[in-house]
Amino acid sequence: MDKNNKIPFDEDNYTHNINKSNERKLDRRGFMKTMVGAAGLFAVSTLPWGSIAATELMGLREKKYPKKEIIDVKKLNIGDAFEFAYPTDHDSALLVRLGENEYKAYQNACTHLRCPVFWEQSKSELVCPCHHGFFDVKTGSPTAGPPRRPLPEITIQVEAGKIVATGVKRYET
Ligand code: FES
Repeated sequence: MDKNNKIPFDEDNYTHNINKSNERKLDRRGFMKTMVGAAGLFAVSTLPWGSIAATELMGLREKKYPKKEIIDVKKLNIGDAFEFAYPTDHDSALLVRLGENEYKAYQNACTHLRCPVFWEQSKSELVCPCHHGFFDVKTGSPTAGPPRRPLPEITIQVEAGKIVATGVKRYET
């Protein structure tokens, strides 16, 4: 071979590699490892982790909620709203008195991007000022704007002249 056609290092030429068979063995072992890994992954992926996680995240499991006194009935006039926290001190909520014995309460984080929702008494609707989202006060369903899901409703009852929160309704799809 002339100068330009020369193979510079023997090691670079695979066909001259004396460890070729050993290399093949390693390849086979590597391949088997990959297969074992893939089988393991397949086994794990067929377990119902996804549905277990989804159940937890979507709150489909029955939850226990504390009873919490919100306000004395006499302190809330018909047509007025009252802000409170439920089920934890970090969950802002809104109670609206719609009639003599008609109350509605929702978690007041807008289902679009979680801005607080306000009670617009003159129009009888719940309004999110962030991107002009509107919700029906009787159902919590979005009526206009970007929100697509209803506000989670808080169940309430009247006990001894007090309005009491008893739970958060499951989100129905
Ligand atoms: S956060 Fe309420 S409309 Fe966007």
